Amino acid sequence: MNLKELNKVAKAIVADGKGILAADESGPTIKKRFDTIDTESTEENRRRYREMLFTAKGVADYIGGVILFDETIRQSTGDGVPFARYLNDLGMIAGIKVDKGAKPLAAFPGETITEGLDGLRDRLKEYVSLGAHFAKWRAVISIDNGGNGSDSSDGIPTEFCLRANAHALARYAALCQECGLVPIVEPEVLMDGNHSIERCAQVTSRTLELVFAELADHRVELEGILLKPNMVISGTDASNRAGQEEVAKATLDVLRKHVPAEVPGIAFLSGGQSAEEATEHLGLMNRMGPLPWELSFSYGRALQAPALDAWRGKAEQFEAGQKALYKRARLNSLAHLGKYEPTMESAA
Ligand code: 13P
Repeated sequence: MNLKELNKVAKAIVADGKGILAADESGPTIKKRFDTIDTESTEENRRRYREMLFTAKGVADYIGGVILFDETIRQSTGDGVPFARYLNDLGMIAGIKVDKGAKPLAAFPGETITEGLDGLRDRLKEYVSLGAHFAKWRAVISIDNGGNGSDSSDGIPTEFCLRANAHALARYAALCQECGLVPIVEPEVLMDGNHSIERCAQVTSRTLELVFAELADHRVELEGILLKPNMVISGTDASNRAGQEEVAKATLDVLRKHVPAEVPGIAFLSGGQSAEEATEHLGLMNRMGPLPWELSFSYGRALQAPALDAWRGKAEQFEAGQKALYKRARLNSLAHLGKYEPTMESAA
């Protein structure tokens, strides 16, 4: 492992207000997205869509890394340039999702364990040869208080599920570093449910505590990773959802407590927040600095939803889709720099 090189790549991805475009939707997920715009999920349509995103004029000023799916890293632009090379040449570092998805955790109903460790070393080597410089593995943690919205710590997640997922994340991260890839460590506590922001804080805290303990045990070098966490936020169906200031403060409290300063960057997932909400939360947090790490974005839906909607699978709306992505990338970059104002939404 060349830790200096890993650290350089990790820092470059989140340098100068930049963040990550998560464009690594698996086959079933991209089909779900295409269904919303009545577009068939064929291999060529998926290629065209990703080409629209990656070739949008100006986005390289705001996007430092792009997460690809296995199919996409093997595809090329219309001019025949492999996507990974195209992105790397523009300084949008190519990355790859390497987990094989969250599957039911045997004997723990309602909980999942992320699969994909078997044979991972060989897959990572291939991805390096295809031009990837970083990787992503997503662990999925659900909160279920038995439907009564109480803050009881009974129920889901179980401590066992958190430990199993933290262990898998750390094994993945160690393998990535061995192969020269920066691991994005993504433990996602889902927003689904009616839980309070306090319960989300409690679960996110314990999750991060266990993740960093496992990373240390597995001898993962923190200078050579990026963390991709959820924000600390009320459940989607909670009755009294916390306001934006509260989300920003609660998230920073948890991160300050559990994320060592050696970690060069934290890049949030959007997790079902609206595009504007995700930007606003990031902007608020960066105004609450100074912070020991870069605090940035690694959004999927919050960057892509407006672009997908503007494009709608139509060739004549290709540029409109690109403009929509450009706007979100620019505003999120301003949020990373602590310079975002909600009034910029209408001006941009
Ligand atoms: P969202 O921002 O849509 O949550 O996606 C980010 C991601 O990569 C999830 O793994």
